[in-house]
Amino acid sequence: MTPISSKLAIDGGPPAKTTPNIPMYPGGNEIGEEEKREVLDTLDKKYLFRYCRPQGLASKTSAFEKCIADMIGCRYALATNACTSALISSLTACGVGPGHEVIVPAFTYWSSASAALCCRAVPIVAEIDDSGTLDPDDFERKITPRTRAVIPVHMRGSPCDMDRIMDIAQRHKLAVIEDNAQACGGTYKGKYLGSFGDCGCFSFQYYKIITTGEGGMVTTNDESLYVKAQMVHDSAVCWRPDRFAPARFPGELFWGYDFRMSEVEGALGLAQFRRLPGLLERMRSRKGRIVAGLEDLVAKGITPRRQIDPEGDTGICIMFMLPTVELSEQFVRALAAEGVDVMHPYHEDIPDWHVAHHWRHMIDLVTPTPEGYPYRDPARSGQPPSYRDLCPKSADILSRMVHINVPPQMTDTDCDMVATAVRKVTHAYL
Ligand SMILES: Cc1ncc(COP(=O)(O)O)c(C=O)c1O
Repeated sequence: MTPISSKLAIDGGPPAKTTPNIPMYPGGNEIGEEEKREVLDTLDKKYLFRYCRPQGLASKTSAFEKCIADMIGCRYALATNACTSALISSLTACGVGPGHEVIVPAFTYWSSASAALCCRAVPIVAEIDDSGTLDPDDFERKITPRTRAVIPVHMRGSPCDMDRIMDIAQRHKLAVIEDNAQACGGTYKGKYLGSFGDCGCFSFQYYKIITTGEGGMVTTNDESLYVKAQMVHDSAVCWRPDRFAPARFPGELFWGYDFRMSEVEGALGLAQFRRLPGLLERMRSRKGRIVAGLEDLVAKGITPRRQIDPEGDTGICIMFMLPTVELSEQFVRALAAEGVDVMHPYHEDIPDWHVAHHWRHMIDLVTPTPEGYPYRDPARSGQPPSYRDLCPKSADILSRMVHINVPPQMTDTDCDMVATAVRKVTHAYL
């Protein structure tokens, strides 16, 4: 390991990390011949719509769906144009609509909450705990007679406490929609994330572990949820054996959006899916190497994010907590000066859509129509939910956390330099 220079880079010393930081586009950074081959093959066939295909022309989008379904062990997977639309399709399929509440954690990308609003339901924000994921106790506390669903989010690549969340949801008869946008390939107790809830939702947007540029997926074991999610995602009902036949059963046909994935994205997804095991293996080993160099720092006051199931972590990042907000600010400034790709998961002065305290338009109950719906819903006697004094525990935890990305393309030298930088800063400040 590189020797620790006593003077911090922020104080004029030499930086510990002298190699360039690799952007956190795990699959995106690897786009190459396989992606080109799949996309060019699609373009050569000159048919880019996944449905209503010419005789004998297989759909790459369907093949990509099968890859995800087979991997996680679910009966059905439905490709969409984003995770947000996968969430909207899943919530609607699960019967979430006007007058209902959906519980979401305070630490998630805004679209977990926005998806509930798009269904004209109201998001209720619950605390996270020191795992960075939904606090099961606060989830249970926030349940009301209007609650219909919960969206546990496997945030920053790590699983939620699915045993407890499923138990609470089952006791209260709530739908569970896993937001697995950030943890594709992660597991909990050996079972793949996205296979626990009524539905799982994936993102293949460019910053995710594997990417189709934009894209998403709904996974489920329930045929009726699959049918309804298909209905929501394709207003043209091209997924039906006979598009124009009357409904085969009540609830088969209703309104829908157009959230379909195109064949170009499906082709990219197929090629990226083949990279997934290698990406996960490399991120986990890179993370393991950095963390091994930091173990003794726990005694100095660095608390690693609690892993609900370390085996199931995808390894996309390292998060640790410091005793005070001031220390976390000092650490982030000093680590950045050392050359590390570091950030605050939450800082009240730094806008970010991943923490509820920054969801200003929700806190201020802003709506595109003057009636203020769905916050001011007659089913709630016009009483909007209060988003004031939102989740203080989450704000405290996240504002003391420090976050470091672990792109799979890091070399051993990169990893050792990150560990050296964290050691250097810790020895200076703790
Ligand atoms: C936790 C989480 N949920 C949902 C989404 C939305 O994904 P998409 O951009 O595919 O709609 C994201 C994307 O950043 C996310 O991080």
